[in-house]
Amino acid sequence: MILLDGKQTSKEIREEIAIEVKSLKEKGGKTPHLAVILVGNNGASVTYVNAKIKDCEEVGFNTTFLKLSETISEKELLQEVEKLNTNPDIDGYIVQLPLPKHINDQKVIMAIDPEKDVDGFHPQNLGKMALNLPTFLPATPMGMMDLLDRYNIETGGKHCVVVGRSHIVGLPASILMGRNHYPGNATVTLAHSRTINLEEILRDADIIIAAVGKPDFITADMVKEGVVILDVGTTRVVDKTKKSGYRLKGDVEFAGVSKKASCITPVPGGVGPMTRVSLLKNTLRSARVKL
Ligand code: GUN
Repeated sequence: MILLDGKQTSKEIREEIAIEVKSLKEKGGKTPHLAVILVGNNGASVTYVNAKIKDCEEVGFNTTFLKLSETISEKELLQEVEKLNTNPDIDGYIVQLPLPKHINDQKVIMAIDPEKDVDGFHPQNLGKMALNLPTFLPATPMGMMDLLDRYNIETGGKHCVVVGRSHIVGLPASILMGRNHYPGNATVTLAHSRTINLEEILRDADIIIAAVGKPDFITADMVKEGVVILDVGTTRVVDKTKKSGYRLKGDVEFAGVSKKASCITPVPGGVGPMTRVSLLKNTLRSARVKL
């Protein structure tokens, strides 16, 4: 069994990015600049956003952090978005989701300049992705494609089952795996809460992308020998032995499934770090266009 080490792979990619940023600066080019909008104080969002900013600083990017009140109106948030759209120094920015209930996520995403949408969430970018045109790819699916690529995992003609159809992970991952491009060319099944016979479908899968957010949802009896597993789940479960008071658990029951899998991502240290590095790749890509 090969452990798909996202921590190590993302470290290598980060080092490559840092070298390119250094060379850009030496040539008098622009320092990539990412802005992050965070609305409110959601615990997981604060952790993610801080990690994203730290990652940027480590590779030499500039960052701007806009921490906005939970009570900001949708109109005021849209004004902040517009300021970032028109600020020429900002190469890309993200609005951390979820937003408070009184704000319409989709309306905010639609207001982001697609050229600065380094999350790849704007419909224009999702459309380009589906058509295999160059664009920003959503970070988690992109990180998974990079992991498959760096480990030279064959995907052509394989049966890939994606479990979960969220707009930011499952849906785009299913599109990427089916594109006429490596990694891709797979025969894709997109399974979700209304799927009948999920276990039967999973047992036929050569590659499983698990993105449901339910710890240990997929067990060893549901997979076949030699399966490739990409586990996107990161549910926080109480663990008094940890300083934080919790640990992360994937959607796949690792101890059992790893005995049958040919390749599997651990949680933590698998897809998560790859997601983080993908945002850096998109921001660098956006800055490069301006050279
Ligand atoms: N919330 C959870 N994941 C993400 C992400 O990748 N981008 C943004 N903007 N919000 C998120």
